[in-house]
Amino acid sequence: MPALIVANWKMNGSKDLLLKFCEELNVFYSRNNPPVLCGLLPPFPYLISAHELLYHPQCHTGGQDCAPFKSGAYTGDVSASMIRDCGGRYVVIGHSERRQRHAEGTETLVAKMICALQAELVPIFCFGESTEDAEAERGFEVCLKQIRDVFEHPSLQGVSMHHVVFAYEPIWAIGTGATPNPADVNKLLGRLDHYISENLSTISQYEYLYGGSVTADNLASFLSQNYIQGALVGGASLKAETFIPLLETAVARNSSD
Ligand code: PGA
Repeated sequence: MPALIVANWKMNGSKDLLLKFCEELNVFYSRNNPPVLCGLLPPFPYLISAHELLYHPQCHTGGQDCAPFKSGAYTGDVSASMIRDCGGRYVVIGHSERRQRHAEGTETLVAKMICALQAELVPIFCFGESTEDAEAERGFEVCLKQIRDVFEHPSLQGVSMHHVVFAYEPIWAIGTGATPNPADVNKLLGRLDHYISENLSTISQYEYLYGGSVTADNLASFLSQNYIQGALVGGASLKAETFIPLLETAVARNSSD
């Protein structure tokens, strides 16, 4: 399976950046049909243009968030079906920045999951431990709880999920330049995978991304781990010059498989 590299621009970017970035992605993808999937998640005002600018079938777009409601009087919110309508394929749910800054808890995340699934988006479900959790060596327990709280919620029981992307993002690694040991990440994902494959049978297809200070220098060491199928990238996704090397790294990993 080709790796998936997702660019999470957060609240960064401009029309100019979008044009340049998409142009370079198109050149990269036209060169030799590289076996790597890419997702560009710009801020909402740029989403429809991103979809129109990118024409390679392996290059997708998506939202960084969606509303926990289908439609209606929710000033400022953007629904999952609007993301789909604008050509989006993915939507991030449960990013730690939204859990923390927007106080998003389990009920909200479950409602967003339902909206995303109904709109036929692929949820990129983020989870990860804080510095304190890491210091207390309870990363696995915290991650498992974050997954179980949402995926075993009564409202999601019996709901079939065609495709879910699980993104492990230790909070202490996001935007800090610090990264966990890739072998430790693999071990943690292996334990989570054991749980997910045994217990969450409503998910037909799933994969794992690593996120947190990913760069061209460290990506290969994460992608060499068998449970890590791609990356969710913030800072290094803000320029084509730092993002395209990540795609190249993922291609190299595929050809060495
Ligand atoms: P970062 O962000 O790559 O800037 O650490 C990752 C993320 O928050 O998804």
